[in-house]
Amino acid sequence: MRTLILGGDGFCGWASALRLSRKGHDVYIVDNLSRRKIDRILKTKSLTPIKSINQRIYTWNKINKKKIKFYNIDISKDFKGLDYLIKKIKPDTIVHFAEQRSAPYSMKSIESRNYTITNNLITNNNVLYSIAKNNKKIHLIHLGTMGVYGYDFSKYLIPEGYYKAKLFIKSNVINTKILHPASPGSIYHLTKAQDELLFQFYQNMYGLKITDLHQGVVWGTNTNETLLHKDLCNRYDYDGDYGTVLNRFIMQAALKFPLTIHGSGNQVRPFININNTADCILLASENKKRFNKVNIFNQLTETHRLINLAKKISSISNCKIQHLKNPRIENENNTLIAKPMGLIELGLKPIYLSKDFLIKEIEFVKKYLKRADKKKILAKSKWKIN
Ligand SMILES: NC(=O)c1ccc[n+]([C@@H]2O[C@H](COP(=O)([O-])OP(=O)(O)OC[C@H]3O[C@@H](n4cnc5c(N)ncnc54)[C@H](O)[C@@H]3O)[C@@H](O)[C@H]2O)c1
Repeated sequence: MRTLILGGDGFCGWASALRLSRKGHDVYIVDNLSRRKIDRILKTKSLTPIKSINQRIYTWNKINKKKIKFYNIDISKDFKGLDYLIKKIKPDTIVHFAEQRSAPYSMKSIESRNYTITNNLITNNNVLYSIAKNNKKIHLIHLGTMGVYGYDFSKYLIPEGYYKAKLFIKSNVINTKILHPASPGSIYHLTKAQDELLFQFYQNMYGLKITDLHQGVVWGTNTNETLLHKDLCNRYDYDGDYGTVLNRFIMQAALKFPLTIHGSGNQVRPFININNTADCILLASENKKRFNKVNIFNQLTETHRLINLAKKISSISNCKIQHLKNPRIENENNTLIAKPMGLIELGLKPIYLSKDFLIKEIEFVKKYLKRADKKKILAKSKWKIN
């Protein structure tokens, strides 16, 4: 199978590219290295020392039978470059990770808001248009987020993308199926909600084969493949913009700092391990089920209330919990009832966030503490506009 991985130098893309390559896919990576550039602008870097994309690929190609090829293309700005590549390599599947993925970064300034909107939406439209133009049978797998459902009113099990609905129009009742109402909590999440409409449009108009994976917060760093050689090491983001809540707690535990929580900490969030992310990409790309609509799968394995997660890590590390003013505008007492139904059906074997895993991850992070800039850990972006 020929698979084009867009954003294959990033955290999830790199891990997934290696998994697919090891499983026998012919993998082609496209990335404009913008994530590395944002690190330089923010004066931060991955806690783990990551090699250049050329070194990573050189090492992988030395140890693996199937070779990976890399193309530096900005998908939002160079439609011709992307289109030419799709025409040339004729992929069966395109996995699309290439978006600006930080909610705090997307709320930082008018420039970062506009960058997130233009980069994410134009990237997606360019990919969809090129598929429609070249070969409508290409399967597009896109990484979305559980955040599109909103963290507000999920008193019931969240469906995978769609609701069966009754629309009441005067005295008539129309039975239909609608997309789960979008309730994005940041500009970043807003682009993912708009991505959903682009998918509906291209599926309705041109019959494209699309899978949208609504992913939770990804934890962990390395996978079975990235562990094969030190040059393949995956990134670990801990800074206030790109570090996720769990990475922040783990970093603080490793440094013996207080575990900082935004507001009450009653927020519930979905989680998935990076090895399971790579599993899901493999399962989705090998899924032969019908595509009479956009396939939507909830890509998480568990949910946690953040205060409980902090307490668990505090009991392991003896670090205190410190409540900070919440920089976000959000419901801090949300419920989130969600399961990975479709992906389990396809064969996903969930890896859960156990105490042992947390201890291992803290020990792993301790190895790289010399590289840490402690001033970068706390979130600085604010949702409020003064
Ligand atoms: N990491 C998470 O916890 C998480 C959770 C839910 C969803 N996701 C989604 O998964 C996807 C991947 O996330 P990640 O954590 O690997 O992010 P990442 O920033 O590490 O990787 C994204 C990659 O895409 C590249 N890219 C961005 N814009 C591009 C463009 N215009 N042209 C070419 N390349 C471009 C970047 O350089 C980067 O290497 C994103 O779409 C994100 O929204 C991630």
